[in-house]
Amino acid sequence: MSNSLDGYAVLITGGSSGLGLSHARVMGDRGARVAITDFKQENLDRARAELQQSGVEALCLLADNRIVADIQNAVAAAEAEFGKLDVVVNNAGITGMMKPIEDIDETFFDSLFDTHVKGAFFAVQAAVPGMKKRKFGRIINTGSPFAMTGAPAMSHYSGAKGALAALTRAWAREFAPFGITVNTVVPGFADTPMTRSDVTPEIFKQIIEGMPLKRQVLPEEVSYAVAWIASRETDAMTGQNISPNGGQAIVGM
Ligand SMILES: NC(=O)c1ccc[n+]([C@@H]2O[C@H](COP(=O)([O-])OP(=O)(O)OC[C@H]3O[C@@H](n4cnc5c(N)ncnc54)[C@H](O)[C@@H]3O)[C@@H](O)[C@H]2O)c1
Repeated sequence: MSNSLDGYAVLITGGSSGLGLSHARVMGDRGARVAITDFKQENLDRARAELQQSGVEALCLLADNRIVADIQNAVAAAEAEFGKLDVVVNNAGITGMMKPIEDIDETFFDSLFDTHVKGAFFAVQAAVPGMKKRKFGRIINTGSPFAMTGAPAMSHYSGAKGALAALTRAWAREFAPFGITVNTVVPGFADTPMTRSDVTPEIFKQIIEGMPLKRQVLPEEVSYAVAWIASRETDAMTGQNISPNGGQAIVGM
């Protein structure tokens, strides 16, 4: 059995930065044709150029994960370009920074849950019919250790990631008869634009000191897990958390 992704067609939401960009690079390097989405054209333009430097030609699709029609159009465009979709990586996300519950208003709550949960739900709804026909598919949701441990002033984010974790288990059961596996990659505190902008130096120090490995996870360390989940080596694995997290999931934040 090989971990090559030759012949694969992959869609990564929020793929123009951080973990998603790294997934595109690693999976493209292993032979997959890769489509990425983002809600800002300038992010896609930058990502396209960065991926080209690594020898990866990505299909770059403007799509806001909070807008169902955008997601449906992105899935349709990727299927039209590649003739199929084997893998959907639900990666687009925002933390919304640390906020006590009193600071969360309805607009912000909806935007955060729509980005993480609604976008993932409707991407899967759009991609699954083709996967069912071909009796093969990989859905990879992006979780967080906070879905299990919780985190202070992060109930908005922990709740959204918890919803995704539940969707992984429900979809794993629903799609198992069709050869489609559904798993969650659960990155620990990783070195990406998100953690560079959203975490204060004090919190950064506190998280690193609490992590058993005492360092941030590298984006490619998460991408190697994603590429492995996508490969045929994981045919028997569904409904699981695969967690490159530096030990964060056993200690929380
Ligand atoms: N970095 C970490 O420590 C860490 C840990 C656990 C989970 N995660 C999760 O990993 C995923 C990627 O995070 P990252 O650290 O690479 O962050 P990032 O900010 O570098 O990348 C997130 C990407 O999502 C895109 N995005 C945001 N809102 C969008 C929308 N509405 N529509 C389309 N695209 C949108 C952004 O433009 C960006 O390209 C997220 O789901 C995040 O919650 C990150």
